[in-house]
Amino acid sequence: MRLQFGAIAQLVEQWTENPCVPGSNPGGTTKLTKRSLHSLRFFYATLPPMHTNIVIPNDFADFELQLNKSIQGYSQVVVLTDSNTLEHCWPVIAGMEKLHDVYLLEVPAGEDSKDLDISHGLWSELLSEGMDRASLLINLGGGMITDLGGFVASVYKRGIDFIHIPTTYLAMVDAAIGGKTGVNFNGLKNQIGTFTPAQAVFIWPNFLQTLSTTDLRSGFAETIKHALIADAQLFAELEALDHLEPGLLSDSLSKSLAIKCAIVDKDFTERGERQKLNFGHTLGHAIETHAFESAKPLLHGEAVALGMLAALYLSRKLNKLDQSEYERTTNLIQSHFGDLVLLQQDLDAVLSLVKHDKKNQGDTCRFVLLDSIGEAVYGQEVSESAMREALGSICAPNA
Ligand SMILES: NC(=O)c1ccc[n+]([C@@H]2O[C@H](COP(=O)([O-])OP(=O)(O)OC[C@H]3O[C@@H](n4cnc5c(N)ncnc54)[C@H](O)[C@@H]3O)[C@@H](O)[C@H]2O)c1
Repeated sequence: MRLQFGAIAQLVEQWTENPCVPGSNPGGTTKLTKRSLHSLRFFYATLPPMHTNIVIPNDFADFELQLNKSIQGYSQVVVLTDSNTLEHCWPVIAGMEKLHDVYLLEVPAGEDSKDLDISHGLWSELLSEGMDRASLLINLGGGMITDLGGFVASVYKRGIDFIHIPTTYLAMVDAAIGGKTGVNFNGLKNQIGTFTPAQAVFIWPNFLQTLSTTDLRSGFAETIKHALIADAQLFAELEALDHLEPGLLSDSLSKSLAIKCAIVDKDFTERGERQKLNFGHTLGHAIETHAFESAKPLLHGEAVALGMLAALYLSRKLNKLDQSEYERTTNLIQSHFGDLVLLQQDLDAVLSLVKHDKKNQGDTCRFVLLDSIGEAVYGQEVSESAMREALGSICAPNA
């Protein structure tokens, strides 16, 4: 059974309040509770024009059933992992009936693997294994694996089907949803890639039990972003969380995922509305790229958290964000990411990287800014001096 609808956010809302929404949860009666990951209920959505099934299984038997169904009819199945997801996540699903004869691929864990040379190696493996156009790639991992595997599949033999099984919080609420695939190139983030929808995305939050607290926090930055750009109520709920642990995040996971789906649904190829999802990313990507080279690289969400602080500064200075909301928003981010700063010595390098950002047109830099919590506007022009000032607001003196 499959539900077809556009307003996915609304359905998730209904479904969260009442787990017995017709069709969304056959036979289920368990109420959602904040503390239980198992409270995430069986759920399908098909997102036009992506035609991706987003599946949150009811329980493990349902996970196996739905996954087995999804991989029927393919000539061969390959599973892509990184070294950590091979160790922690593959054993969770390896016993599933339809996964007995799959071909396993492993790349080193970490952002360095989101790269053309690694893609080249993967294409060679697929070719030497005789993978034809009717084969399927399953990407089992965080955002690095879903971006890399999605890209590799989207151009191999002009495109084979792929399924994402995200294993980090960040990938569950963001990277695996929405069809953006890609790799880094010449030291810059996501310069080569495609917009290609996955056939299906399976959300199994129990994978989060083995995720490090820093990686959980990194993903939480994207949920803060979703709340800031689209949902003031969710923002208030995030303010009430005193610490992060997988069991406390099931509500925010489903709401965050629903926001991402709803935005992508309206604007798959990022001509308009979808640009809002880049809140904090214009400076965040530049900070992340610059940190690649340093002794202590930043995780994606950590850089986005810094980028959001700078974007909030600009929203206060240039847009309608009022002082009390500026304080609430920066306080929430600081309460989770207060240990992170940009060093004064790195400011010029970060600024020069901003010009490579895809959202710039000509000499102007365009930002997503907030008018208020839950209300974002895209395409806001920001001068270099204002950007410098905003970056200055998150800088600490040199080490
Ligand atoms: N395509 C998109 O729309 C989109 C959106 C946001 C971010 N991204 C991309 O996502 C990437 C970041 O994703 P990420 O934060 O998931 O990073 P990641 O994939 O590198 O995972 C983080 C770390 O956690 C490990 N790991 C993954 N799952 C685990 C588990 N269940 N247990 C133990 N360890 C586990 C990984 O091996 C890695 O070491 C960046 O490259 C970013 O650009 C893409």
